[in-house]
Amino acid sequence: MARDRRDKYYWKAKDDGFRSRAAYKLFQINEKHNIIKKGDTVVDLGAAPGGWLEVARHISGGRIVGVDLKRISFLEGVETIAGDITADRTIEKILNLVGRGGSDVVICDAAPNLSGNWSLDHARSIDLTRCALGCAKKILRPGGHFVVKVFQGDMFTEVLNEVRDNFAFTRSYSPHASRSQSAETYIIGKKFLTSPVRRGDEFDVQINEIGSSGDGVVLIDDFVVFVKDVELGDNVRIKVQDVKPNFAFSEVIRKESSID
Ligand SMILES: C[S@@+](CC[C@H](N)C(=O)[O-])C[C@H]1O[C@@H](n2cnc3c(N)ncnc32)[C@H](O)[C@@H]1O
Repeated sequence: MARDRRDKYYWKAKDDGFRSRAAYKLFQINEKHNIIKKGDTVVDLGAAPGGWLEVARHISGGRIVGVDLKRISFLEGVETIAGDITADRTIEKILNLVGRGGSDVVICDAAPNLSGNWSLDHARSIDLTRCALGCAKKILRPGGHFVVKVFQGDMFTEVLNEVRDNFAFTRSYSPHASRSQSAETYIIGKKFLTSPVRRGDEFDVQINEIGSSGDGVVLIDDFVVFVKDVELGDNVRIKVQDVKPNFAFSEVIRKESSID
């Protein structure tokens, strides 16, 4: 066995009876970011051998679903799917289990087979991260939470922003249990957004209401968007800056005279 596998968390997992040292990464992520709560439905993408499943089951006690290309050996209280998370039929199988309400949490520790070619491995990891995000968008309930592994590199910020576009709060976090020499980190997306507006969207609006904060208030498909630095009656083009579960913030990018 390689010497570097026998670190503190390797032995701790053996002592505590977890299937993998990765279990402690999820414990640490959850301690810091409060992702899984009691009773939550949790879907784990790329779950074998099952350390994260054991942790999710321990914290939640609710419905836990694990998906992997490899067979996951039986774990009491956990449902498993053998499948590729990049395939639509795997998503259908997951949806059949979690139902229409969706999952409270989607976690993904999936990793590609490493080739040793750093940029190829980074690109494959980014592909898998994007794919997990695509799955999460189909599986999560509105307001649900997402954790996904990603290898750092030049495409990291791009994928971080893609997560940011779909969640009210986004962070990256490296738990202590990740090996110090590893390029892996985790992107945490909290409160899955299903609102009709997204960061960067632009709209032409008239300001017919000013809120108590002094910002303009407009409704876009019944969703409240606050507009900075406007007065009643202004006709403006706005750009959405930040989206929260129940409202968004925007700024004016053009005043009436310059709107076509
Ligand atoms: C680091 S392991 C996960 C360890 C797990 N979190 C634990 O605690 O035991 C990564 C897993 O991702 C799986 N994986 C990689 N690509 C996948 C894909 N396209 N679909 C499903 N699983 C995948 C691998 O088979 C592997 O079991």
